[in-house]
Amino acid sequence: MISLSNQHVVIVGGSSGIGLATGTLAKQLGADVTLISRDAAKLKQIASQLDSVRIAIADFADEAATDAAFANLPPIHHVYVAAGSFVGGNILEGKMADFRRAIDTRIWGSVHVVRAAVPKMSATGSLTFTGGLSTDRPVKGAWATAVATAAAEQLARALALELAPLRVNAIAPGWTDTPMWNDILGAEKQAIFGGVATQVPMKRLSLATEVAQAVIFLMQSATVTGEVLHVDGGHRLV
Ligand SMILES: NC(=O)c1ccc[n+]([C@@H]2O[C@H](COP(=O)([O-])OP(=O)(O)OC[C@H]3O[C@@H](n4cnc5c(N)ncnc54)[C@H](OP(=O)(O)O)[C@@H]3O)[C@@H](O)[C@H]2O)c1
Repeated sequence: MISLSNQHVVIVGGSSGIGLATGTLAKQLGADVTLISRDAAKLKQIASQLDSVRIAIADFADEAATDAAFANLPPIHHVYVAAGSFVGGNILEGKMADFRRAIDTRIWGSVHVVRAAVPKMSATGSLTFTGGLSTDRPVKGAWATAVATAAAEQLARALALELAPLRVNAIAPGWTDTPMWNDILGAEKQAIFGGVATQVPMKRLSLATEVAQAVIFLMQSATVTGEVLHVDGGHRLV
């Protein structure tokens, strides 16, 4: 198993939820951690709580901003792209701007990160993208998210060949209790979570820390590449 001690781990989307949990765990395992996201105030607050974490501000849908955020970073061992969100909307009635955002962030954003990060990466390092349960179980009215997660997973498989020996994988979380759902589900969050839990074979949602453990596994596993690791309590099977 690859030690994370003194390895530089960069988390794009590191200010909340699964990304923050992964950065925190990597730090506990001895890594030098950089957290990137759009919200400077949120990142500064996190940096004041986590000992010696580097922060950088960028919207990774913006190629120039992503390049600028990576330009000043030291050599990199592992990158996890957590940034993204659930984008709903019926294809005939939703806003094109929302649909474009779903693709621009998860797909073009990931491509921007690859182009900015790989020239700084060690050949024994790894990249991990974020797909999701919606690849296997699309939610009616959220087609853009399903297409975006599927594309992120396929990007990992394609780049595992193109960038080898660098390893490239994807994590595919199921329903996970993170701040992402606060705005999307609002006051109905707990009721909806309760309903989802009854459908999951494991009978509960995942925690961000549990998905983070799987991301760290992908960083540390020297011969795992082109893999999509599902952390969904078996939800995709039912
Ligand atoms: N939670 C779930 O149930 C679930 C299920 C399947 C897949 N996922 C996926 O897992 C990933 C993490 O989700 P989460 O639940 O941890 O969400 P979260 O708590 O909302 O965290 C998302 C993170 O991404 C950052 N971010 C969003 N858009 C960005 C952009 N354009 N540029 C840079 N940073 C950006 C956010 O920070 P700023 O707002 O400060 O930029 C935040 O740090 C997402 O891709 C999500 O779609 C989540």
